[in-house]
Amino acid sequence: MKPEWGIILGWILLVARAGAARRGPPEEASFYYGTFPPGFSWGVGSSAYQTEGAWDQDGKGPSIWDAFTHSGEGRVLGADTADAACDSYYRVQEDIALVKELCVSHYRLSLSWPRILPTGVRAEQVNRRGIEFYSNFIDALLKSNLTPIVTLHHWDLPQMLQVTYGGWQNVSMTRYFRDYADLCFEVFGDRVKHWLTFSDPRTMVEKGYETGLHAPGLRLPGTGLYVAAHHIIKATIQCQLRKICNQKDNEVSQNCFTPCMMLIYHNTADEKERG
Ligand SMILES: *[C@@H]1O[C@H](CO)[C@@H](O)[C@H](O)[C@H]1NC(C)=O
Repeated sequence: MKPEWGIILGWILLVARAGAARRGPPEEASFYYGTFPPGFSWGVGSSAYQTEGAWDQDGKGPSIWDAFTHSGEGRVLGADTADAACDSYYRVQEDIALVKELCVSHYRLSLSWPRILPTGVRAEQVNRRGIEFYSNFIDALLKSNLTPIVTLHHWDLPQMLQVTYGGWQNVSMTRYFRDYADLCFEVFGDRVKHWLTFSDPRTMVEKGYETGLHAPGLRLPGTGLYVAAHHIIKATIQCQLRKICNQKDNEVSQNCFTPCMMLIYHNTADEKERG
């Protein structure tokens, strides 16, 4: 894959700033072609696994997606992996220059949990080189006047947490996620003001634990999705509460949890269908 595609990678973000004023008669004004409300911000985004590459470099541990794509079981078209992906780990400056060409103001990136905590557990091992990589990345974005939006978890759970505990099937994930999130807030929170906990958790739990089409490839029909979703919602709420309690700078909490709200909504609808 070419680096350009990594940047454009399907995640077009529209970040509406709070307080963007409505003007004129609501119906006509809101769909006026080519016009966006004042204060509307444009951005693009990516995920760590799909762009970074360097899957085993500088102390990074394996993620469930590394294990899934390396399994040799033909689970990915063309037996493809993201071992090198867009090589973004080594091309931060080039990628930022490409984002600048798009004339956007925000860039959403995700942190690879196993790059920061190789086994997933903060108490076991912290990879300073992983923290340094993201720290430099964030500094480079800010220097280019791009506002970082950071996703804590975009599907690439540390493989050790999957092997040892069954991943999101196990309530202990909430504790490990909390420790990981705390560390990220500590080391990047001075510069990152917009955080997301999970990216598209709905797809993550459905394809990961129900149909098995995505990592970790488990087929647990009827229960897997709901157990994983329950733990993800718990993890998100814990994380949100801690952020609000621990930080004077509360700007963060507003943006945090829309994806999980969607998850709750969707699951409630599913449960109704199931009677
Ligand atoms: C969750 O992990 C614990 C170890 O912390 C283990 O004893 C337990 O069996 C696991 N539960 C499930 C549902 O896998």
